[in-house]
Amino acid sequence: MKPVLPHAQLDWDDQGRPRSRVFDDVYFSDLSGLEETRYVFLEQNDLRDRFAALSADGRLVIGETGFGTGLNFLCAWQLFEQHAVAGARLHFVSVEKYPLSAPDLQRALALWPELKPFADQLLAQYVAIHQGFQRLVLGNGRVTLTLLIGDALEQLPQLDAQIDAWFLDGFAPAKNPDMWTAELFAELARLAAPGSTISTFTSTGWVRRLLNAAGFKMKRTPGIGHKWEILRGTFLGWPEDVTLPAATKPWFARPQPLTGERRALVIGAGLAGCASAASLAARGWQVSLLDRHAALAQEASGNPQGVLYLKLSAHGTALSQLIVSGFGYTRRLLEQLQRGVDWDDCGVLQLAFNAKEAERQAQLAAAFSPSLVHLLDQPQAQARAGIELEHGGLFYPEGGWVHPPALCQWQASSTNIQWLPHREVLELRKVDDQWQAWDGNALLASAPVVILAGAAEIKRFPHSADLPLKRIRGQITRLAQTSESQSLATVVCAEGYVAPARLGEHTLGASFDFKSDELTPTVAEHLGNLALLEEISTDLVARLHVPDLDPQQLEGRAAFRCTSPDYLPIVGPLAEPIAFAEAYAALSKDARQVPDIPCPWLEGFYVNSGHGSRGLITAPLAGELLAAWLENEPLPLPKTVAEACHPNRFALRQLIRGKA
Ligand SMILES: Cc1cc2nc3c(=O)[nH]c(=O)nc-3n(C[C@H](O)[C@H](O)[C@H](O)COP(=O)(O)OP(=O)(O)OC[C@H]3O[C@@H](n4cnc5c(N)ncnc54)[C@H](O)[C@@H]3O)c2cc1C
Ligand SMILES: C[S@@+](CC[C@H](N)C(=O)[O-])C[C@H]1O[C@@H](n2cnc3c(N)ncnc32)[C@H](O)[C@@H]1O
Repeated sequence: MKPVLPHAQLDWDDQGRPRSRVFDDVYFSDLSGLEETRYVFLEQNDLRDRFAALSADGRLVIGETGFGTGLNFLCAWQLFEQHAVAGARLHFVSVEKYPLSAPDLQRALALWPELKPFADQLLAQYVAIHQGFQRLVLGNGRVTLTLLIGDALEQLPQLDAQIDAWFLDGFAPAKNPDMWTAELFAELARLAAPGSTISTFTSTGWVRRLLNAAGFKMKRTPGIGHKWEILRGTFLGWPEDVTLPAATKPWFARPQPLTGERRALVIGAGLAGCASAASLAARGWQVSLLDRHAALAQEASGNPQGVLYLKLSAHGTALSQLIVSGFGYTRRLLEQLQRGVDWDDCGVLQLAFNAKEAERQAQLAAAFSPSLVHLLDQPQAQARAGIELEHGGLFYPEGGWVHPPALCQWQASSTNIQWLPHREVLELRKVDDQWQAWDGNALLASAPVVILAGAAEIKRFPHSADLPLKRIRGQITRLAQTSESQSLATVVCAEGYVAPARLGEHTLGASFDFKSDELTPTVAEHLGNLALLEEISTDLVARLHVPDLDPQQLEGRAAFRCTSPDYLPIVGPLAEPIAFAEAYAALSKDARQVPDIPCPWLEGFYVNSGHGSRGLITAPLAGELLAAWLENEPLPLPKTVAEACHPNRFALRQLIRGKA
């Protein structure tokens, strides 16, 4: 189990500047933090000219060790705004072991009034920043910040990116020798794009020598303030005498970036399709969003309330990492929507309804920060929930409920997205470099890229027919709020869940039926949901006047979840199934083989599906993951997690088991 990383522990000097207790060092120069940042990091990496030289669809990727107060980031963003053309984008990836708490960040950034317009946006999005990869979208989509929360030496090896400019920050080498190591510099080199630049505030001889040995050509240059000299450099290439890091396996490698027009079809307008469309539209793509229904979010994504519930593992599994990153991303998106109607951060309480669950919860509480999840005993749980409960449980203070159609609407609202309702795609054809969507004899739309976001329906297309997606029917029950049920203050879950009312109605969910193909709500499942409510709280049963309700008159809706066998979503590019089996046939004899054969991709064919019971948490970030694949950008998730979600994983497993 990994230790929970605490927030930065700070002292503030008489000028209001922060100092780290752990490292006994300052976050920025006591003369002028701003000038030093601009000189050491922006000037030495020639950022002004590089921003000015970006084309309208260009971007620059900056990497940093030590996000700290975000001062370097905000200065880079300000310079980018001043010099880059409209349409150009800035990616900033920064690793931070001890993130500042939100109040400390606010206090530190108040020191720089000229950065306020940028700092305010960062502060508004600085929520749910937990361990692992945390993506923030700023500047109306023009600026992407990916924070890697954890130790640089643990996080950077998981990063899949090409960095154009490195800011080597972090407290002074003498005060933080664990970070300034040959191992770290090898990571910076591994991630460096051709011609990448680097700068740092230190001129320490061994730092310069180790960076040179890693493949950078470092030069001393006059310093600023207290610093007599600093270092700047460029990446020459991986040193010949050092073994190259293992290449990505060809079936998970990035497809050749598309060079033509940036246009895509997205088929399916639920959470997955709307998220895919939004992430591409934010990058300047023109997107046609097709669905067979008259409106967005008519199937699984159409419930009145869904829960932002994190089913975590204490063992850092790929799924658990995805959930923490996805939760953070969705939670930050929701800040843009209307609280109380579109969503509410009322918290989620997961009851410890038996001894096994209580044990699992204790392990989870020890593995994650209390700001993400903590234990409540029975009296505390009751006080939080505002109703009588028999058990305590785990509380997720930043969780809550969401009206999924509102999130879909918001994501589909870009002017770069053309909404095409009443379009049922029956067939996909590749003609020249275009994917064409057909409904019988009618050509509905075409584009070089197609994204399949139609949940289990994507199996209707031959290329994706083998993806092992299953439909699981689920039904929710709507219960009218009563004056007594108004006291319910958080979402409460046991086997089922119930949310505080939205517009006068509580959502109670949800049944699981693996067999049924029917979507008409049934009385039996309403009764099943009421039994789930009884397990949650008999007090709430009474407050909702359940005994007086006529089961025949209960209202609700049913839809299909769409799950994969490993419960991870399926997100990314897909290979042509037959050519894939041929190319990598050797794996069926020896699973450790890595044939040096490029993956036979279905060019321009992408999948975003399999979000199971937690699409609110996984689908929005999956949109970013798809866009990162398509735009050859830094991935928003650890490489191992992106691979765990990769559409090719099933064909690969089949080959290895000798079943292809
Ligand atoms: C009862 C129930 C309760 C749930 N509760 C929660 C919860 O509390 N929290 C949570 O996070 N998740 C919950 N989920 C899961 C969540 O709703 C899903 O993970 C999510 O909605 C999946 O989104 P999607 O876009 O992949 O699929 P969908 O929302 O089903 O969207 C797929 C869309 O594709 C369209 N489509 C498919 N094929 C075609 C085609 N060929 N041509 C045109 N259009 C096509 C469909 O019309 C549909 O609109 C629940 C699901 C159910 C059923
Ligand atoms: C001098 S501050 C960085 C200042 C920052 N760039 C800014 O603009 O405010 C150094 C930062 O590095 C972080 N840090 C130190 N050691 C680290 C490590 N091993 N991994 C990740 N972050 C680390 C510290 O927590 C601290 O926030």
